[in-house]
Amino acid sequence: MTPEPAAPPLVVRDLTRSLPFGDTPVHVLQGLSFQIDVGEWVALTGPSGSGKSTLLGLLGALDQPSAGSVVIDGTPLEKLGEAALARLRNRRIGIVFQDFNLIASLTALENVEAPLYVGPRRRDARRLATEMLQRVGLADRARHRPHQLSGGQRQRVAIARALVTEPTMLLADEPTGNLDSQTSADILDLIASLRRERTLTVVMVTHDPAVAQRADRTIHLVDGKLQAEAAPTTAGSSTGDTADMSAPQ
Ligand SMILES: Nc1ncnc2c1ncn2[C@@H]1O[C@H](COP(=O)(O)OP(=O)(O)OP(=O)(O)O)[C@@H](O)[C@H]1O
Ligand SMILES: [Mg+2]
Repeated sequence: MTPEPAAPPLVVRDLTRSLPFGDTPVHVLQGLSFQIDVGEWVALTGPSGSGKSTLLGLLGALDQPSAGSVVIDGTPLEKLGEAALARLRNRRIGIVFQDFNLIASLTALENVEAPLYVGPRRRDARRLATEMLQRVGLADRARHRPHQLSGGQRQRVAIARALVTEPTMLLADEPTGNLDSQTSADILDLIASLRRERTLTVVMVTHDPAVAQRADRTIHLVDGKLQAEAAPTTAGSSTGDTADMSAPQ
């Protein structure tokens, strides 16, 4: 018998988030519904203040919606207690924050080890973190602290930390935001190859259309609402660069 297809890892239903602001609440997210399939790479775009980081926080179970639901691997998050949520955050979800959030007093290696201290692989933390740092090309910076690393290196430490627990989902908030274009391309190549190796689902916030083009699909937010879902991008389809170059002169 062929097994049932796996549930999609991420379903968002009528998701609403309002935050109190004096007498008038701010309606940050207003009734979003979408689904993201296993192994898909989705770019999350939209103007500043449109709710991208707020949405990422809800997808990563760091925040609770005012209404609606986030369903991960078939389980609505609101059904989980604190302990189960903490386990889910630690084992299933890797998050790269907009400002890295590395711990300043710890070395690169210790930052990558940190999520393993609370999980079942505590005893293997040093070995796994060392392997992960190697994987992101930073074996020779293991003992550096965040202030002794460049922006791109810090970003790679943040990615290593997010992925060391082997999550099924990577949520990344502007992971190439402050990087030059070459470093940004290197980081995206790294995420692309880790995604292939691990069948990782990736949701990546970006302002940069060139970065969004690397994704399978774009979800665009405007004022907390889903504006449009672009079809999968194909190389050169929106810029026309490859087509133009191959055109006869
Ligand atoms: N604690 C809060 N109380 C009230 N409003 C808030 C709070 N936090 C965020 N907001 C509002 O929610 C909206 C969405 O914020 P969010 O950080 O999700 O935007 P963003 O799309 O990630 O923007 P950026 O691209 O600048 O990072 C903003 O208008 C912001 O003012
Ligand atoms: Mg943001």
